[in-house]
Amino acid sequence: MEQNSKLEKIVSLCKRRGFVFPDSEIYGGLSGFYSYGHLGNELLHNIKNLWWQKFVYGREDVFGVRTPIVMNPKVWEAAGHVQNFTDPLEGGKFNTMFKTEVGARKDETTTAYLRPETAQGMFANFKTLLDTTRGSLPMGVAQIGKAFRNEISPRDFIFRLREFEQMEIEYFIKPNDWQSIFEQWRVAMHEFFTLLGLPKVHELEVPDGDRAHYSKRTIDFEFEYSIGRREIAGLAYRTDFDLSSHAKYSGADLSFYDEETKERFIPHVIEPSFGVERILLAILDCAYTEDELGGEKRIYLKLAPKIAPIKVAVFPLLKNKPELVAKAREIYKNLKTYNLSPITCIFDDNGNIGKRYRRQDEIGTPFCVTVDFQTLDDQTITVRHRDSGIQDRLASAELPAFILEKIK
Ligand code: GAP
Repeated sequence: MEQNSKLEKIVSLCKRRGFVFPDSEIYGGLSGFYSYGHLGNELLHNIKNLWWQKFVYGREDVFGVRTPIVMNPKVWEAAGHVQNFTDPLEGGKFNTMFKTEVGARKDETTTAYLRPETAQGMFANFKTLLDTTRGSLPMGVAQIGKAFRNEISPRDFIFRLREFEQMEIEYFIKPNDWQSIFEQWRVAMHEFFTLLGLPKVHELEVPDGDRAHYSKRTIDFEFEYSIGRREIAGLAYRTDFDLSSHAKYSGADLSFYDEETKERFIPHVIEPSFGVERILLAILDCAYTEDELGGEKRIYLKLAPKIAPIKVAVFPLLKNKPELVAKAREIYKNLKTYNLSPITCIFDDNGNIGKRYRRQDEIGTPFCVTVDFQTLDDQTITVRHRDSGIQDRLASAELPAFILEKIK
């Protein structure tokens, strides 16, 4: 498949099936802003859930937090963003933070910013977060939330956006431990990409001079998108830059007293940072497939069952046979009771079975269940596998366990 046209095909499918599409298109849209329909929202949800499960629930030293998008503007002075968060523009420099006003009065003291990274909320609130969780180092805080950057040229669908979501961890450590802990997070990040089923995540050691102002070491994780090899996530050693700077600007004591060594110091930070939309784009890029099945061309999303927005579609073989429809609805309703697990499912009796399969293939549903006349006799159903088109017969009572095993 020609590479640029692949992105165009993905964009088209995403719009056609309501995964993700330009926002407020009736007014011509706004570059860098996208809306998500049910299926895209489910995909985002699944990506974020896997991340949370691995990095928060899967560990004993990382705690979930939520901090606001708009913070005291001094945060961004201390963080260096007011001075440094710029892109070159026509000989000059353009600060890519979005400005806003807080309150009814309007002067230079009321100007605030939409956060360009979730990280600062975890630095500015460090003391409370440490005291109310582990109380000792190492200690990590994790946040999934919106970030905003007034990118000069948003592009490549959902790759470079003006509003996007980050999944970030600030992992506070003793300074001498940084190299070994950096290494542990490097490995953990690759494990997450593997968990998502993504191939080809490369590392780029960011050289001196190219790193962000706060970083002493950065690895960019790069994915081979069909549009080229691009950054999908980053791992940075932010030293004590942020906490020291916040201590200086605010006058607060952000030091930590180490009972073991009897030393007082400002904790250092290792930061794994992921962009949700870039992960979604990588997943769609890998999943988009064109092939021929049963002599017919088809498009399908080869999504892993745990990522797929809909896990199973249930069909009655014929729409006009009430006994088949009733049985199919019974099986569908039973699957719905597993939604917390979650088995997301859909009921479809529209058009012939072939058309229903194609619709589900296009949204990446891994299993289609059909209720036919044999079901009424022996309580078995057919399960059709998306990638191969092969069908198995299964006792309908075994269906939930079968699906749960596949999406584990
Ligand atoms: N707190 C560190 C930080 O924000 P970054 O490399 O600027 O570092 C982290 O951003 C991640 O956020 C990137 O690796 C990327 O996945 C995502 N990201 C950054 N800018 C983005 C944009 N304009 N659109 C979509 N995702 C973006």
